Amino acid sequence: MTTAMSGAMKSITNPAALQCRMCGARYNVEPLTICEECFGPLEPSYDLDAIEGVDFRKQVEAGPASLWRYEMLLPGGPGLDRVDLGAGFTPLRRADRLAAALGLKDVWIKDDSVNPSYSFKDRVVSVAATMARSFGFEALSCASTGNLANAAAAHAAHAGMPCYVFVPDDLERAKILATETYGAKVVAVKGNYDDVNRLCAEVADALPWAFVNVNMRPYYAEGSKTLGFEVAEQLGWHVPDHVVVPIASGALLTKIHRAFQELIAIGAIEEKPYRVSGAQPEGCRPVAQAFRDGADEVTPVKPDTIARSLAIGSPADGYFALQVARETGGAIEWCTEAEILEGIRLLASTEGVFTETAGGVTIANLKRLVDQGVIRPDEEVVAFVTGNGFKTVEAFEGTVEPSFHVAPDLDEFLAALG
Ligand SMILES: Cc1ncc(COP(=O)(O)O)c(C=O)c1O
Ligand SMILES: [Zn+2]
Repeated sequence: MTTAMSGAMKSITNPAALQCRMCGARYNVEPLTICEECFGPLEPSYDLDAIEGVDFRKQVEAGPASLWRYEMLLPGGPGLDRVDLGAGFTPLRRADRLAAALGLKDVWIKDDSVNPSYSFKDRVVSVAATMARSFGFEALSCASTGNLANAAAAHAAHAGMPCYVFVPDDLERAKILATETYGAKVVAVKGNYDDVNRLCAEVADALPWAFVNVNMRPYYAEGSKTLGFEVAEQLGWHVPDHVVVPIASGALLTKIHRAFQELIAIGAIEEKPYRVSGAQPEGCRPVAQAFRDGADEVTPVKPDTIARSLAIGSPADGYFALQVARETGGAIEWCTEAEILEGIRLLASTEGVFTETAGGVTIANLKRLVDQGVIRPDEEVVAFVTGNGFKTVEAFEGTVEPSFHVAPDLDEFLAALG
C-alpha cells in the first residue's frame, strides 16, 4: 500500500542494509539472519538522519489505518506489493477502572487482541510475508506457539501462498482449528517449542520455504516496532513513563524499545526517560529469572504453563530483553498460574477486554510490579495486551459455570435471583 505522500520518501525509506546487532557488520537486504563475522543476529538499519520528525508525523497521520502507516521505518519501504490484511492501528484504551483497581492514575491498554487473526502476530507476519514474496519465496512457514500459526495461515491465504506451520502438539484447540480452516497445513510436533524451532531450522535449510521467524526473522521482528510507534502516536506523540510487555522470545519487548528510540532519533517525539518492564509466567521464566539473579546470560528451561503462547524455554532475544529492562530501569517479573487467570478476569471485568493467557500474564505482572513499588502511582503506564481470550478458553475449563440455571419461568428466575 503506497500513499501519494510516501512516494516522495522512497529514497530514504528502504533499509540500506542489514546490520549485525553485536558487531555492526553490514549486509545487503537479502534473506540472511546471522552475521558471518561474529554469528550475531542481523536487523534492518535505516538512514535515520534522512528522516525529519515533523514530516514523518505528517506522513504517518495521512497514511492508512494499519501498520503500513509507518512504512518509512519498516523493511522494504513504499512501493512494495504488500501482503496486507489490515493489521495494526489497534485501539489504545484508557483503562480508568483497571487503574483504580490497581491504585494507579494513568493506565492504558494497547489492545492487540482485535487484529485480523486476533493477536499482535499479524503485524510481524505482514512484514515477513511481504518481504518473503519480494524475495521470490513461494511458500510461507513458521515455528509457532499458536498465534503466529494463525497469523501466518491468514496472511498466506490472503496472498494465495501455500502455508505449513509447525507447532508443539499440545496447543489450544482454537489455534489449531483456525489455522487449518485458513487452509494451512499444521505439523504437530511431539515436543515443546524449542524442539519445533530446531526442526524448523533444519527444514528451512532443506526446503525453499520462507519461515517467517527463522530465515525471515530480521524482517519479521521489525513488525513489532509498530506497536511502539502506535502507542507514541496515540498518546499524542510522546512516550509513556512505563510499559509492561509479555516475553516469549523477547523480540516484542526489544522492538517496542527500538521504536521509541527511532522516534526520538528522528525528532518525532521529545527525548524523555521511560522504563520497559517484561512479564513471564512462573512455568516459563528464563528471562525473569536471569533478571532477578543479575545474570547476563539466560539459562534455558523446559516450559510448563497454561500461557502456551509464551512457552519458549530458550528465548532468542532474551539477552537483549534483559539489557533493555536494565538500561531503562524497568524490571522483568513472573506470576503464578492462578494469577494468570486472575489477571484475565481483572482486565475483562474492569475494562471489557477479554485477553488470552499471555494478556493475563501481562496484567498479573503489572499488578505485581505495582505491589512491589516498581511501578509508581504517578506514572503513565501502558500494558500490551497481545492476544484474544476466545483462543484460550481451555484455561478456564472447569472453573466457570452459569450463575443461574432455571426453567423459562419468571417466578423461578426471581426466586433464583433472591
Ligand atoms: C499473544 C502473545 N503475546 C506475546 C508474545 C511474545 O512475543 P515475543 O516472542 O516477541 O516475545 C507471543 C509470542 O508468541 C504471543 O503469542
Ligand atoms: Zn557480527
